[in-house]
Amino acid sequence: MDRRRFIRVAGGGVIAAAASLPLAGCSDTYPSEAVQAWQGPAPGESDVRRWVLAYAILAPHSHNLQSWLVDLGVPGEIMLYCDLQRLLPETDPFSRQIMMSHGTFLELLDLAARRRGMRAEIELFPQGEFGPRQLDKRPVARVRLSQDAGIRPDPLFDQVLRRRTNREAYEPREPSAEALRAIAASVAAHRVRAGFTAGGGSALRQHRAIASEAWRIELETPRTILESYNVLRVGPREIAQHRDGLSINAPLVRALTALGLFDRSKAPAPGDAAIAGQVKDFNAKIAATPAFFWLVTQGNDRRTQVDAGRAYARAQLAATAQGLSMQPLSQALQEYPEQAGTYAAIHALLEAPPPAHTVQMWARVGYAPPVQPAPRRGVDAHIVRA
Ligand SMILES: Cc1cc2nc3c(=O)[nH]c(=O)nc-3n(C[C@H](O)[C@H](O)[C@H](O)COP(=O)(O)O)c2cc1C
Repeated sequence: MDRRRFIRVAGGGVIAAAASLPLAGCSDTYPSEAVQAWQGPAPGESDVRRWVLAYAILAPHSHNLQSWLVDLGVPGEIMLYCDLQRLLPETDPFSRQIMMSHGTFLELLDLAARRRGMRAEIELFPQGEFGPRQLDKRPVARVRLSQDAGIRPDPLFDQVLRRRTNREAYEPREPSAEALRAIAASVAAHRVRAGFTAGGGSALRQHRAIASEAWRIELETPRTILESYNVLRVGPREIAQHRDGLSINAPLVRALTALGLFDRSKAPAPGDAAIAGQVKDFNAKIAATPAFFWLVTQGNDRRTQVDAGRAYARAQLAATAQGLSMQPLSQALQEYPEQAGTYAAIHALLEAPPPAHTVQMWARVGYAPPVQPAPRRGVDAHIVRA
């Protein structure tokens, strides 16, 4: 956060107070224990299930909630459940994004198993598929691991430790056609329609306008912004304690929080200067975004959502291999009433008329400065039975 934004956030009277804080020397790097998981499996890990899980937990997950629970009670098997305490009922009322986030996990698990020459036989919903509105305690997947001489490693595995969701401003230069082809090819085996918009023109302008509007709605809707505030982790102590959610370690935000000027228990008032500042910053990033990527499915049952998540993980890994960054833009895809207009607009723009079609993922794509990895809780935090 720069000083101008800080002034908008804090208002004139507060600047003097915050300026007197010892900010110099404060780093925005996350505490090392929060990002330890990005070192990969523990050296000498002898249980192949824990080895593959050490990669699977690095998967992208909406709001970094890491809702994955695993039961290792049966040898050679991983039973995957969803932690029903880690949902997003306001912004993801039907848990579509949560199911996608289980797909990303299964894809990384599969890539890791292949790396070890193992087949991961993934049986989705072994006790029946969840209904369209809510999840329940039944498992998401049963995974059986077995040695298989016919299994080939997938080069996307090499990108797992390098992948990041990148929320920085992207360079205006367009991704190369070859890079976009490689991303599209990475999802060819999945039941998704993948596409890109780049090259300027009115379609790109429409993408930008929908993304900006959807973001403004999410920030100005009290219950949806509060849902994000609930999982905001500000400063090294909170980040190291939780190792999940949306982490902010910027010295100025930490200072505002320490001074009691950033109250996460209340939604900002209409016209709040901090929200106006965030909308402006986001609009600047969107205006500079050179390309958008999307995944559309026919149907929207739970298997389709998991499969779309697998495809997204592959696309982001393929982008990483091409030196490209991605940031999902979920707001317009979300099924809460205030987004009905942007939901209709993005589905129309991508020629995906609902309800037969669903835009499962929409992301901006481009070249960007590197960012640090997001916190993870570590394998042990996910194991309900060893
Ligand atoms: C289904 C899904 C939806 C997501 N939506 C957003 C989004 O709208 N905005 C965003 O910045 N990141 C979004 N993300 C990215 C997550 O916030 C990110 O994966 C998480 O914070 C962990 O960071 P990492 O991907 O760098 O490991 C989404 C991820 C998934 C899987």
